[in-house]
Amino acid sequence: MLSRSAASLATLVAVTVLAAGVARAEEGYIKAGKVLFETHCRICHADDLAKKSYGPPLVGVIGRKAGSYPGFTYSDAMKGAGFTWTEHAVKAWMADNTTMLPGTKMRHVGVTDPGEQELIVSYLKSLAPKN
Ligand code: HEC
Repeated sequence: MLSRSAASLATLVAVTVLAAGVARAEEGYIKAGKVLFETHCRICHADDLAKKSYGPPLVGVIGRKAGSYPGFTYSDAMKGAGFTWTEHAVKAWMADNTTMLPGTKMRHVGVTDPGEQELIVSYLKSLAPKN
């Protein structure tokens, strides 16, 4: 029979191994998300605040008020959007942005696969704001 401390040590090891597995899975999602981001979004969006792009940078976009990145010239539709980007809103946006906000200057990208949306969001969340 295990002593109490050996048992709690075993639990600790199990939890640590599990957490490492979760961290590895999370890393995998982020990597896959980066590939999808490169395919669908990178042509217009920087994932680094030091780079300029046609669209606003998406670093720190989740939790940011729509149309609020300083110095970017948004469409009137986006300036007046009045909502904050949640994970859910970003997924809906990549699926059908032109219906979500008629008059936006981002062309329709049509990423409708929920798995792909999830991966792109994982990647966006991994981009820590650098300012
Ligand atoms: C063809 C260029 C283009 C592509 C491709 C594109 N975007 Fe955009 N995106 C824009 C532009 C331009 C805006 C600003 C829209 C406006 O002002 O109406 C924008 C705005 C956004 C915003 C709002 C940002 C803010 O600061 O409020 C999000 C979120 C966004 N895009 C996500 C994505 C994602 C995710 C993808 C890939 C799945 C993507 N975009 C692909 C050009 C693009």
